[in-house]
Amino acid sequence: METTCVALVGMGTVGTGVARLLLEQGDRLSRPAGCRLRLKHIVDVDVARSRPLAIPPGVLTNDLDRVLNDSEVKAVVQLIGGIEPERTIMLKLLESGKDIVTANKALLAEHGPELFDFARRHGRSIAFDAAVAGGIPIITNLAQCLSANQILSLRGILNGTSNFIISQMEERGAEYGDAVAEAQRRGFAEANPAMDVNGSDAAQKLSILAHLAFGAQISWRDIPRVGIDELQVADLRYARELGYRIKLLAVAQLVEGALEVHVSPTLVRSGLPLSEVREANNAISVVGDAVGRVFFHGPGAGQMPTASAVVADLIDTVVGRTRITFRTLELWSSRAPRVPACDHTRVMGRYYLRFMVDDHPGVLADIAGILGQQKISIASVIQHEPEEESASPTRVVPLVIMTHSANEGAAASALKEIDKLQSVREKSVRMRVLD
Ligand code: HSE
Repeated sequence: METTCVALVGMGTVGTGVARLLLEQGDRLSRPAGCRLRLKHIVDVDVARSRPLAIPPGVLTNDLDRVLNDSEVKAVVQLIGGIEPERTIMLKLLESGKDIVTANKALLAEHGPELFDFARRHGRSIAFDAAVAGGIPIITNLAQCLSANQILSLRGILNGTSNFIISQMEERGAEYGDAVAEAQRRGFAEANPAMDVNGSDAAQKLSILAHLAFGAQISWRDIPRVGIDELQVADLRYARELGYRIKLLAVAQLVEGALEVHVSPTLVRSGLPLSEVREANNAISVVGDAVGRVFFHGPGAGQMPTASAVVADLIDTVVGRTRITFRTLELWSSRAPRVPACDHTRVMGRYYLRFMVDDHPGVLADIAGILGQQKISIASVIQHEPEEESASPTRVVPLVIMTHSANEGAAASALKEIDKLQSVREKSVRMRVLD
């Protein structure tokens, strides 16, 4: 059997998992690869650290030139985080004739067009299934298996850290900060966990999925996004009482031929598969015009799940499948068809609203009046009896309203007006609802 030499640049958590598969499962991998994969170089800045696996002598180095100058190495797994020097290293590797496998969604979301264009000009390919949803093969599914479809909508739980935090708060009554720390300890969170909890990580992944599914080239920075960093336990409880669970959803959908994208905490009706996604798992529900709805679920982060996707990409690259897909899809090329962006104020949907209000006569009527003026119809209202009936004139109580379907612009305007009322004591909460 032939041997193909490959290299790994970056031996952090996922890199270690990739090295483990390549070094310890060589026989198994040689069957789908049709050749023996020889991990010839591992490049890492830290060559002194002890590693949890046996690396053959002479393989570990901090000298990237050993890869760049080695014409035997055809494919490189590049797993350094962040934007620079990752971008420059990728350009150098492509220039030196290597095909790339990466898991770096931030880099692709920022510099996809430049990197893909550069790869095309040099006759190379970039594989990136591990960049979105870790172990779930969503990139290959969208790019290849669902290619007969016009995708109509895609809804994903794309940030495992946020899902883990919500699960911990909901099921274990954990404090927000403790849940973030635990996610970091378990290795799901980004180096900067703000990217996880403020919706940026999910927006980066959504920009990649929206490009594959709809041909849209949207900067992740232009995706309207709300994270879970301001989510309150009270809303998790009310959602449960109403028969929903709150999930951080990343959505791309066609609305009257235009593309609507957003990331936001959403009340998902209990029983829908997305509502059942727990811990750090990810899931994506895709609707195609021919296939109908398909659902993907699995680990969205972590060492071996992500390594599983990386090594599958490496095998596809060595076998030559990546190059074909890369060429035919023309990802991030200037020739990619453009889908017009939708005016999101016209998108229809139901809303969960929570107001903190003075417990006075007429407050509910004022709020209902403003909703009515905006043609927003109320589906249900919750105001719980206070624990003690007291005549305190300063009592502030939560008032929860579920609306019927309304347009986003009207909902935003109504909340702006309601928040000006003297009897409304805090910025009100508005979340989308998925039934
Ligand atoms: N930090 C990401 C998450 C994993 O929590 O989903 C890598 O994309």
